[in-house]
Parts: sequence; C-alpha cells; structure tokens
Amino acid sequence: MRILSGVQPSGKLHIGNYFGAIRQFVQLQADAANECYYFVADLHAMTTIKDGAVLRDNTFRVAADFIALGLDPDRSVLYRQSDVPEVAELAWMLSTVTPMGLLQRGHSYKDKVAKGITPNHGLFAYPVLMAADILIVRADRVPVGKDQKQHLEMTRDIAAAFNQTYGRELLRVPAELILPEVAVVPGVDGQKMSKSYGNTLEIFAPEAELKKRVMSIVTDSTPVGEPKPTRGNTLYALLKVFTPESEWPATKKLFSEGGTGYGEMKKRLLGLILDTFRDARARRDRLDADRGYVEVVLRDGRDRAREVIASVMADCRRVGGLG
Ligand code: ADP
Ligand code: TRP
Repeated sequence: MRILSGVQPSGKLHIGNYFGAIRQFVQLQADAANECYYFVADLHAMTTIKDGAVLRDNTFRVAADFIALGLDPDRSVLYRQSDVPEVAELAWMLSTVTPMGLLQRGHSYKDKVAKGITPNHGLFAYPVLMAADILIVRADRVPVGKDQKQHLEMTRDIAAAFNQTYGRELLRVPAELILPEVAVVPGVDGQKMSKSYGNTLEIFAPEAELKKRVMSIVTDSTPVGEPKPTRGNTLYALLKVFTPESEWPATKKLFSEGGTGYGEMKKRLLGLILDTFRDARARRDRLDADRGYVEVVLRDGRDRAREVIASVMADCRRVGGLG
C-alpha cells in the first residue's frame, strides 16, 4: 500500500502532531508491504509565514524532528515539498476542475476568515495543493488527524472531477486513516492543540520550558481532597493520551477518588512526556550537530519522490493537452 502524508513547518512540532499523525507514520513504515512518503509542506506554510529565513529554518527543523521521532530514511521517502515543483503544476491542473463552491465550503478557510485573518488566494486554494500532494504519488492511504478529514474528502472529489473530465481512471482516489482514540489532542487551554493557537506542548522544548507549559494547563478549582471531573478536563485528556488503554481506569480513579491535586497530576504528565520522548530528544540534539546529514536525506528523498511522480505527471500533461 502506498502511504503519503505531510506536516506544515508553520511552527514547532507538538504532542498533538505526534499522536495525531507522526506516531502513525512511524508505525506504517514498519510494515514492509507499505511504501511510505512523508514530506515537509513548506509551500503550504507560505500561506501563513512571510519570512523566508523563518520558513527555511522551520522546514529544516521539522525534517530533523521527523528523523528524531523515528522516521527512517531507509524505510520511508522523506522530502521537502518545494523540492518537487511538479506538485505546484499539478495543483494548477486540478484547480481547473475544482468548483469554487467546494473551496468556499472549506472549514479551515472559513475558520480563518471568522478569526479575522484576511484570506489570500493561497489559503483559499490550499485544499487543491493538498490534493496535488496526495494524487501526485498515487497514494492509497493518508494518515492524518481528524481536523484533516474534510481536506481528504475534497481530495477525493477533486480526483473524481479530474477523472471524469478526462474520461479515465487516471488519478487514484485515496482513503484517510484517522486514529479515533487520539483524534484531537487538547492544548493547555483546552482548545485543540495547534501551532496557530499558542497552546502547544512542544516535543523538543527545553525541559524547563516544557515544565512551565505543563504547569500552565488550565484546570478548575476543585480542592485537592475532592473528586475531580473527567469530562471536559484537559489534564485528564492529556494523561490518557500518554497511557495505554489498559491503564485508563486507573487514571480515571485518580480523578474520581479525590486526594490527588492537579499540581501532582501535572508533574506526572511532565514525567510521562519526558519518558515518552527521551530517546527522540537525544537524537534530535545529535541531528542539530549534523545538519548535513538531514540535507542528504532530503536530497535523496527528493530524487526518489520525483521518480515515482514522473508517470502521473506525464499522464496528466498528455490528457490535458500540455506540451
Ligand atoms: P497545527 O494545527 O499545529 O498547525 P498541522 O495542521 O500542521 O498542526 O497538523 C499536522 C498533523 O498533525 C496533521 O495530520 C494534523 O491532523 C495533526 N494534528 C495537529 N494538531 C492535532 C491535535 N491537536 N490532535 C491530533 N492531531 C493533530
Ligand atoms: N494540510 C495538512 C495539515 O495542515 C498538511 C498537509 C499538506 C498534508 N499536504 C498534505 C497532509 C497531504 C496529508 C497529505 O496538517
């Protein structure tokens, strides 16, 4: 099965990105039957980052984070989106079969507009570029967090529109892959954890900073001795993310019994985060000292990605009447 996914280098990776996406990337590459393509979506991040030096640095960082978190360049193709410029060309072709109404219904676009962000065309057309990312490698499965569900539906619609227009099964219509139990990891303020909401727990933040962030998780004012609610409780939701399902009843008891204060629970959460990412954090430090290695991985990934996309591009150009 061919697997593809991407992460925007719009900031530093957080635990929502890990549990919602990257952990699955790592699991999927372990199956020899899978052929995995993972990329850093720097063209997408241009819709929000307007400083070239910052974008370039973030892109490198996310690539190094991928490797530190276990993406193995021998098992997966890791590349930088902008190193495969054909993606932008295919996005244009797809845009000519994409109805305006489809994009106007986009949640992500509508949310940004509702937040007062003045939309640019790139933000509006974002789902078309994402469709190109996926369709260009003929992906079968796209592992993402729940928030990307609509983008995947749009990809399927766009692929179907292209196939219908040109009268053949040219583009493979992909499926999504969403882990329901960690579908949305909450941030320190209880909203969805997101780089754009400033509410993240960063995987690679220095320990002191991480501690400060964990201590800032918003809790209610239930006294230490009293039972604490679990519904809508951010701290509970985060502790659950870090514990295997078999231990969830014990975690629940910690809250419902009373006697354990939120401060103590936060310390427990910090310990779990540091334990979970101990090896990755050490690897990440080593990669910072060996930036050349990361560049070699990306260059190799670019070459391998461009090899598989050549036939899709040739087909699309031919049926579209280009060249
Ligand atoms: P962000 O919202 O922080 O900018 P991205 O949109 O770059 O994150 O998402 C990268 C990947 O991580 C996507 O597959 C997305 O679905 C997943 N993801 C992001 N935030 C969360 C979250 N809070 N819970 C679960 N998955 C998430
Ligand atoms: N839109 C995705 C996000 O914000 C990132 C992304 C871009 C992506 N292209 C993709 C994810 C293709 C999966 C497949 O998280």
